[in-house]
Amino acid sequence: MRKKIIAANWKMYKSPAETKTFMEAFLPLVKGHARDEIVICPPFIDIAILLETARGSNVHVGAQNMYWETEGAFTGEISGKMLAAAGCEFVIIGHSERRQYFGETDDTVNRRLEVALEAGLAPICCVGEVIEEREAGITEEVLSRQCSRAFRGISARKAAKLAIAYEPVWAIGTGKTATAQIAAQAHEVIRHEAAKAFGKDFAQQLRILYGGSVKPENAKEMMSQPEIDGALVGGASLKPDSFAAIVKY
Ligand code: 13P
Repeated sequence: MRKKIIAANWKMYKSPAETKTFMEAFLPLVKGHARDEIVICPPFIDIAILLETARGSNVHVGAQNMYWETEGAFTGEISGKMLAAAGCEFVIIGHSERRQYFGETDDTVNRRLEVALEAGLAPICCVGEVIEEREAGITEEVLSRQCSRAFRGISARKAAKLAIAYEPVWAIGTGKTATAQIAAQAHEVIRHEAAKAFGKDFAQQLRILYGGSVKPENAKEMMSQPEIDGALVGGASLKPDSFAAIVKY
């Protein structure tokens, strides 16, 4: 049985003070919850306060992006090594918003992934098709390409901490959720690519999360699918009661 990851992607929301307020309300709601791994990925500026307030709790901390160089003259960037040194355990890589607005490609995802793993972080690598690709019937092709390029040159041993999030772009922030069947099909394609890159045993252990309009109302249905190993939650993770309800689906 793969332990599910219920992860919050706060995107560009919340100040450090708002993060503290969130945690004061959220921690009592999920106290002792051990069935799933709870992860919160806030903006970089909130990582320190999140780590401080989460200390000794069941909440793990992640970042939303990182650069592949360790250090250097790269204004505005943060390295995987820095995130690990700060105490982050997870990092989201290749979110569709980074691909859409910030020039992320399959190849830069691959570079980030490799370095995140080297830094000892657990990457949550995002893949997913846009609506035009789904309508053109090329979803499987797109997912295969995104995965095979992301995994290129990475060994199974090195990839041990990897998780994938299937986030159909048309379901993000739209209120439209993929049906359990759509998600299950996509997860199968991803697992197949993981088996090709890292072997069957690895693929069986690999956690594949679903993301895209996950809410307290649909969390139970989605999380009951054997192929779905967790959720990456945007909008509904911003309020303590709603994110706690998803965690406790
Ligand atoms: P929403 O849950 O707001 O649709 O966002 C999903 C997402 O992009 C998580 O990474």
